[in-house]
Amino acid sequence: MMTSGNLFPLLLYVSFLCAGCFVSSSYARQGDALRVFMKLKATGAVNTSDGILNSILPDFNPKLIPQDGSKDRDKILQLPGQPPNLNINQYGGYITVNQTAGRALYYYFVEADSNKETKPVLLWFNGGPGCSSLGFGAFEELGPFLIRKDGLIQNPYSWNKLGSILFLESPAGVGFSYSNTTSDYTSTGDQRTAQDAYTFLINWLERFPEYKNREFYITGESYAGHYVPELAYTILQQNNKGGTFINLKGISIGNPGIHQIDDVGLDSVGGSRAQFEFLWRHNLIPNDEWETIQRTCDFNIPAPNRTEECQIAIVLNYLRSTENTDSYNIYNPMCYEDNTNLTSGPVLGTGDPCAHRNIVEYLNCPDVVEALHAKITRFDEGFQTRHGIIGQWDKWQGCRDVFLWEWLDSPISILPIIQHLLAHGTQVLVFSGDLDGVIPYTCTRDSIKRLQLVEHNKWHLWGNKEISGSLVVYEGNLTFATVRGAGHEVPLYQPRRALELLQSFIEGTRIPRAKINEDLSDLEINQTIIDYD
Ligand SMILES: *[C@@H]1O[C@H](CO)[C@@H](O)[C@H](O)[C@H]1NC(C)=O
Ligand SMILES: *[C@@H]1O[C@H](CO)[C@@H](O)[C@H](O)[C@H]1NC(C)=O
Ligand SMILES: *[C@@H]1O[C@H](CO)[C@@H](O)[C@H](O)[C@H]1NC(C)=O
Ligand SMILES: *[C@@H]1O[C@H](CO)[C@@H](O)[C@H](O)[C@H]1NC(C)=O
Ligand SMILES: *[C@@H]1O[C@H](CO)[C@@H](O)[C@H](O)[C@H]1NC(C)=O
Ligand SMILES: *[C@@H]1O[C@H](CO)[C@@H](O)[C@H](O)[C@H]1NC(C)=O
Ligand SMILES: *[C@@H]1O[C@H](CO)[C@@H](O)[C@H](O)[C@H]1NC(C)=O
Repeated sequence: MMTSGNLFPLLLYVSFLCAGCFVSSSYARQGDALRVFMKLKATGAVNTSDGILNSILPDFNPKLIPQDGSKDRDKILQLPGQPPNLNINQYGGYITVNQTAGRALYYYFVEADSNKETKPVLLWFNGGPGCSSLGFGAFEELGPFLIRKDGLIQNPYSWNKLGSILFLESPAGVGFSYSNTTSDYTSTGDQRTAQDAYTFLINWLERFPEYKNREFYITGESYAGHYVPELAYTILQQNNKGGTFINLKGISIGNPGIHQIDDVGLDSVGGSRAQFEFLWRHNLIPNDEWETIQRTCDFNIPAPNRTEECQIAIVLNYLRSTENTDSYNIYNPMCYEDNTNLTSGPVLGTGDPCAHRNIVEYLNCPDVVEALHAKITRFDEGFQTRHGIIGQWDKWQGCRDVFLWEWLDSPISILPIIQHLLAHGTQVLVFSGDLDGVIPYTCTRDSIKRLQLVEHNKWHLWGNKEISGSLVVYEGNLTFATVRGAGHEVPLYQPRRALELLQSFIEGTRIPRAKINEDLSDLEINQTIIDYD
């Protein structure tokens, strides 16, 4: 590792560009998975029991399980293509969460770049269901390295400036996580995901005992709008029982699915009221159609029960406006699978719409898998699922569609859990990239309104010189922020703004209010009529 000169990184780049890697997953990105899943929920295929919290997330008895791995063996010395001379402490490995089934979750852990002895631990989840926190979260959004076409680059806005970050592939079957019992892949849901993640945590803390009692935050985006609050609830539940104490301080969720009627609606074809509002505000549907939708649609009832005029307007306008835009960021160029070139001008922020291709290629290279201490679960012949879908897995995938069809439970609203967390002193940050069309800020704003919280700091703009977004702070420790110019994955599109937001949240400092002169008396308003002769 002492080689000097420029040749060294170049050689490493070449070494992982292995042939034969290609994208075949039909849900290459987490918003695609989320949309399909939500629409599936709208058809009644998933148990959306909204019942009392203790039935959504019943009490259970987590176990400390004898583990094969060790911290030393999990230490990652160098990833293929990693920029040289960086002092990054990174670990990767497995924690068994169920011994009889042979179920193990893969984690990738990056220690804070300074003061790791005192800075908090941040757990990160991507959504789906079925999408990888490693591929998207770590290597596309907020980890220390980002995958590019020809290697890894250092991420100047890595969240390991704020604390040590733990990326969890969750549940078993996602990314590098697996189970030796195939039926586990078809019997999972929100409940199992929360319990396994909790079991993971207490066992992981045995491998990294120096992080016991450390301030702990859970973060994530998209369908992690379910995972994050559900795990936080489980932690509070278990903390009361005298097991491993987890010092949970707060949660943060970006463009989250938290209340289906607002998020994607109760329709297997169109969207929610707030989604149409978003499309209309961005000039993707005409005024008169938006008026028709508002006049004829009752979004609180399932689509088939709505008027015919409404159903037609919804299908037509939804398809017309979303088919040929990148819903993850409506101002981004498209990524077409048969064309490696972008179709239009520069990418807004840093969000390459084709980035997932590089990730799939990188994470399937044998030397990368080995360096990460991971293994790829393969079912070349496939396996039968409850719905008759063949789970044919022959490589690492960003998202696995089997989960969408086989998911057991997914409450229709997460708001009762968020209320419970707030009532128990957990800080909550909800943020929205304001160009996301998958779960637009209008949807999340409607959901937050349902909580009927008192505004502590009224709507205002935040940012330093330039406006970074808007912000409302509610009494009871919930903050709702938008991030200007960001799509569905905020840290991907606006990494600096995402880091600033999280930093204020974690350090408990006030997010900077944009310095805008709101005092109208300073303005020289001259009523004299200008004479254009
Ligand atoms: C749905 O989930 C709830 C809560 O876990 C449970 O009580 C109920 O029996 C489930 N219903 C079905 C049809 O599985
Ligand atoms: C392990 O998982 C299986 C399902 O694969 C489940 O039936 C069993 O109860 C689990 N065991 C424990 C200890 O959680
Ligand atoms: C799964 O099975 C493999 C092969 O038998 C074994 O090496 C591995 O330890 C098992 N995983 C777990 C979590 O038990
Ligand atoms: C929707 O229509 C079905 C069939 O007519 C009916 O059974 C159901 O109660 C209606 N649901 C609502 C919420 O109106
Ligand atoms: C993509 O762009 C490159 C460089 O501009 C060009 O050589 C190539 O022909 C383009 N490919 C397609 C499929 O348009
Ligand atoms: C909000 O958080 C602050 C700081 O942690 C705490 O002092 C306060 O009690 C919390 N408020 C509520 C309503 O929980
Ligand atoms: C308004 O504009 C007129 C014409 O330019 C000018 O004479 C007048 O002084 C202005 N008034 C103020 C209050 O600036």
